[in-house]
Amino acid sequence: MTYFEAITQKISDKAVKIGVIGLGYVGLPLAVTFARNGIEVLGFEKSEKKAEAVNAAQNYISDVSGSDLLKVVNETKKLIATTDFSRIKECDAVIICVPTPLDKFKKPDMSYIENSCIDIGKNMKAGTFISLESTTYPTTTENFMKPIIERESGLQEGGDFWLCFSPERVDPGNKDYKTDNTPKVVGALGEEAKQIASALYSLAIQHLHIVSSPRIAEMVKILENTYRLINISLINELALLSGKMDIDIWEVIEAAKTKPYGFQAFYPGPGIGGHCIPLDPFYLEYIAKNYNFDLSMIHTAGAINDLMPYRMMNKIAFALNRYKKAMNGSTVLFLGVAYKPDIDDARESPALLVMEQVAKKGAKVLYHDPYIAEVTDEQGTRYTGSELTDELIAKADCVVFATNHSCFDAKRITEKACLVVDMRNVVKSVAIEDGKVFKL
Ligand SMILES: NC(=O)c1ccc[n+]([C@@H]2O[C@H](COP(=O)([O-])OP(=O)(O)OC[C@H]3O[C@@H](n4cnc5c(N)ncnc54)[C@H](O)[C@@H]3O)[C@@H](O)[C@H]2O)c1
Repeated sequence: MTYFEAITQKISDKAVKIGVIGLGYVGLPLAVTFARNGIEVLGFEKSEKKAEAVNAAQNYISDVSGSDLLKVVNETKKLIATTDFSRIKECDAVIICVPTPLDKFKKPDMSYIENSCIDIGKNMKAGTFISLESTTYPTTTENFMKPIIERESGLQEGGDFWLCFSPERVDPGNKDYKTDNTPKVVGALGEEAKQIASALYSLAIQHLHIVSSPRIAEMVKILENTYRLINISLINELALLSGKMDIDIWEVIEAAKTKPYGFQAFYPGPGIGGHCIPLDPFYLEYIAKNYNFDLSMIHTAGAINDLMPYRMMNKIAFALNRYKKAMNGSTVLFLGVAYKPDIDDARESPALLVMEQVAKKGAKVLYHDPYIAEVTDEQGTRYTGSELTDELIAKADCVVFATNHSCFDAKRITEKACLVVDMRNVVKSVAIEDGKVFKL
């Protein structure tokens, strides 16, 4: 039996064992999804704490259902987490879900993918299928991963192992679309890899869209997120201009949305956050330079967004000034530090950058976020969340809506507050005293 026949047989028998490397926001839901479908999954984690939590069925990712985790860990025992990477040799397929951050010069930090490829290459058996789900620049699978795995394993791509790229599209907090019902783009290297990828992902994912190569799939993911970056930047810039022209941008967007085709609404805010939109387009910008190509739209969009937190700091200073108050010495209460509503993730959150700037100007910064008890800004300053009492709201010189969590009671907060800066249109339907609420 060839390696190809062996793995395809195991997949069709549902006897394939999958390794998922990195059990974070992407890896844990994926591991649980396969395990829920009766597939044996070994989760590989560098963090002992996370591996122990998974094995104790303690959920730390809000998009994973606690009861699903309990079931696959304790009842069916289909999911086991480990920090022992030598166990990669037990797996027939390995899916990589490790971080792909930028360094401080906005250059891709490929060290996580590189380390995973080394771990796989050193420990895999021949006949293993490997898929990368971490977001990265086009050509990574072929030009970056393949040589490392071949070097470390002494095996040949195509005959001894297969490669694939399948971007993760998880939208944290989305109630309708989860890992299994979000259509999945899959781009494998070679015909055999394509067949394996298609059969393997079909075990747990409802809709696959197979493309002709990994680099197409890599570009798909970057296109999706670049599209968002550029549109959010555009609306942020228009929001700033609208503010100067006494035009309510939120009313403009609501009206534009009535057009049944050709327009998709994006909303302004203090900047962009999360693990994707602020980072992914810069992976493309980096590789474009290798082709002597300047991606000026990404560059401009990034620059607009980088300035937003400073503009928001100015907005707060402007609002305080109207009330004859200086930023220095004022108490500013931020509501929401998550990068988007109703989630517990503050990574790259623009709220943190505004807080940092406001604190630098001498204000006392407090925050409340029902989902996040503690945060640390880029400078290492640690904040502990406050309880949202009427007294706290009234005591603050300025209350800032930085995230539009749906549980925020805009009426109560605006009534109790002396001054409100609303960066997210939270106060939209509340009758407010003239001059008390400053909108983005
Ligand atoms: N979070 C999202 O919404 C989202 C959506 C789509 C795509 N992505 C992409 O998916 C990838 C993973 O993102 P995430 O949000 O899951 O990150 P994360 O930080 O939540 O999880 C990554 C996990 O990998 C672990 N890890 C790091 N190096 C490791 C190694 N060498 N071996 C094993 N484990 C290792 C970390 O401890 C962590 O638990 C990134 O490329 C990201 O851009 C994320």
